[in-house]
Amino acid sequence: MKDLLVVQEQYQEYPYPLRYPEDENKRLISTIGDCLAALNHYLYCGKEDFKSGFRVLVAGGGTGDASTFLGEQLKNTNAEIIYLDFSKASMEIAQKRAEVRGLKNITWIHDSILNIPKLALGKFDFINCCGVLHHLASPDEGLKILNDSLSMRGGMHLMIYAKYGREGVYQIQNLMRLINSNVHNKTQEIINCKALLGSLPDTNWFKKSKELYHDHAEDGGLYDLLLHKQDRAYSIPEMYEFVNNAGLHFVEFSMLESLLLLESKNYIRNSELLLKVKNKDVINQQAIYELITGKITKHEFFVSIKQETVASIADLDNIPYFYYNTSYIPKHAYDYIENNKLVAGMNVNFSFNIAQRCNINLLLCMSEYTKYIFKNMIDGTKSLQEIFDAIRQELNRDLSDELLINEAKIALTPFFEAGILFLRHKSIAPYIDYAAEKL
Ligand SMILES: C[S@@+](CC[C@H](N)C(=O)[O-])C[C@H]1O[C@@H](n2cnc3c(N)ncnc32)[C@H](O)[C@@H]1O
Repeated sequence: MKDLLVVQEQYQEYPYPLRYPEDENKRLISTIGDCLAALNHYLYCGKEDFKSGFRVLVAGGGTGDASTFLGEQLKNTNAEIIYLDFSKASMEIAQKRAEVRGLKNITWIHDSILNIPKLALGKFDFINCCGVLHHLASPDEGLKILNDSLSMRGGMHLMIYAKYGREGVYQIQNLMRLINSNVHNKTQEIINCKALLGSLPDTNWFKKSKELYHDHAEDGGLYDLLLHKQDRAYSIPEMYEFVNNAGLHFVEFSMLESLLLLESKNYIRNSELLLKVKNKDVINQQAIYELITGKITKHEFFVSIKQETVASIADLDNIPYFYYNTSYIPKHAYDYIENNKLVAGMNVNFSFNIAQRCNINLLLCMSEYTKYIFKNMIDGTKSLQEIFDAIRQELNRDLSDELLINEAKIALTPFFEAGILFLRHKSIAPYIDYAAEKL
């Protein structure tokens, strides 16, 4: 209980992340983990229209990034969003942000996650809980409470800290505990921490890895990162154990950066060693890549009550579309194949930029039909059935659906694995590309 109060007091005094409600007039902060296009693809088999009483809980909603983004996307539906946080100061900022945007679809609850069982909030189809569970005395208890609040088709987007990328952070937290052992005033703790940071030698682990941590220029960010009193982190195997112990199913990482960092080809150049690693199960492979990169600072991912919640390429009523810059990637892939005269059997590296921030390098696996698959994806509105029919017509060949499904899997799997290609059922309208507006 004491731990809980200490954490509550911190976020009451220093709402985090720092947000100014008036900024809602000039930009919308979007996160892929709360983006309806991603939720539909990863959690609802591509078939959720979010229009039939969809219920959302933002647990530990902070200064309102998720409630604002979800509120904005769901504003023309009858969906209900419940925001809950035990920091009143944070909640007031989140409320003002919603007010600036004119959002009326959010219910505000000032309370602790631990009290959810007593609040009779009902069941939720989606729960966002980012950067919160690792601050509870028992993250397992917190996750169990959230799990018990999910509807039968429910899923969550979670963010918990990652262990190895934060090594330097925990060393400073330990250091500051020693330095501040007799200090009980946050302002003084911060003054001491700033003085320390200004005099760290280059050998210090935090200083050496400083490009991994951005958000500590202002006092709240500094306190959250380096002076937190309750904060733990998970390696990838520990993260899976955490999810499994709660009886949930891990669906997929949501962060583009993690998905790319966990790609084997980035690290192991020796083909014999790479083969040995690739023979290990997925969790062990990811554990190996996490240790090799050393730079994953958080795990952001989807979990679900049900298994097999990801939209399938075998369902021909699904439309494959690139979430970021919808027509740019398939057009670029098509032109690349044409210009380089790529033919079946060739596997080539294919690079492109997305969302003005990320360079992606994938293996383009060529078959006879790869070019035609991309060509028919350019407008982002054709279902797989329509794409296959167009290919049959253009080539005037009697190709079976099974063959084309297999071809589409070969061509598109690297893009699905990179988290940039989604599926939606043909009954679902296209989504806005909010990433284009990302800060
Ligand atoms: C690091 S902030 C993250 C805020 C937000 N989820 C985000 O990603 O921007 C952690 C938030 O969790 C809230 N929090 C921590 N423990 C909580 C608990 N037991 N019950 C409710 N809120 C809690 C804090 O008040 C704080 O606003």
